[in-house]
Amino acid sequence: MDNSPNPTQRPSFLEEQNSVSVVNSRMGNDVSPRMRRVMSAVVKHLHELTIEVEPTHDEWKQAIEFLTEVGHTCTDWRQEFILLSDVLGVSMLVETINSRRPSGATENTVLGPFYVPEAPRYPNGSNICLDGKGGPLVVRGRVTDLDGKPIPGALVDVWQTNDDGFYDVQQKGVQPDWNLRGVFTAEEDGSYWYRSTKPRFYPIPDDGPVGKLLEKLGRHPNRAAHIHFIVSAPGYDPVITHIFTDDCQYLYEDAVFGVRESLIANFKTISDAAEEAEVGLAGVDFARPYHFVETDFVLTKRADIDL
Ligand SMILES: [Fe+2]
Repeated sequence: MDNSPNPTQRPSFLEEQNSVSVVNSRMGNDVSPRMRRVMSAVVKHLHELTIEVEPTHDEWKQAIEFLTEVGHTCTDWRQEFILLSDVLGVSMLVETINSRRPSGATENTVLGPFYVPEAPRYPNGSNICLDGKGGPLVVRGRVTDLDGKPIPGALVDVWQTNDDGFYDVQQKGVQPDWNLRGVFTAEEDGSYWYRSTKPRFYPIPDDGPVGKLLEKLGRHPNRAAHIHFIVSAPGYDPVITHIFTDDCQYLYEDAVFGVRESLIANFKTISDAAEEAEVGLAGVDFARPYHFVETDFVLTKRADIDL
């Protein structure tokens, strides 16, 4: 008597034509629906990629070695996988998918690796540039809701590079601690303002495998010049965002694809008292000329987003 399984009931062996279904059909019955969906898609796209590019053994080995090097480059203070996700545009895509906001609300962008919580709280008008480098800058604006109503007490948490293109945490002992970081509080009319220095572009860490990849791809590692903000208020969805200087040479080729049209800010130059009066600046205490940018933040209530 023939005891071999009926060929029509046997699972299939992996072939080029059926590889996705063979692998995905191995999943057990108790796999959560989300896990099933995610891993089915991972397998599907990985197999499609493999079939499309037909890697040689050497190329596949190189791919494995690259990912191994990315892992080995990670330390407590450096996350090369996040960098890889950033330069491939995936971080920004995840950011975009998870932050669909109503029209008129301030758009978000990537947090980046240099945020430090608990920055000093300052009164409006304070100067957060502690190393005195770069072109003086005044930042001013209002925090409102979608109807334009001020949100007094909203916190405006800011951080940026110095004029050498480094954050304070990258230059411990070189820059003063908390250089170019601070938290400001919106006044009764929603307004805030502070003094700083005009940010400049800077390269993402490019001395690891991701930097080598960028070089092979003919890409530079520079981020367009920007200032980071987290704006928050009780009852509102906090927004993590940047503003970008409108004159940066890398505005249209930010290494991590973080620029959005609505986040490009008009940095003016204030050259004389008449220009100062025209925009209503007083008590600036900077020698002219200096830079000036006005940027408002529009927050949404959680309910506005879930609608
Ligand atoms: Fe940054």
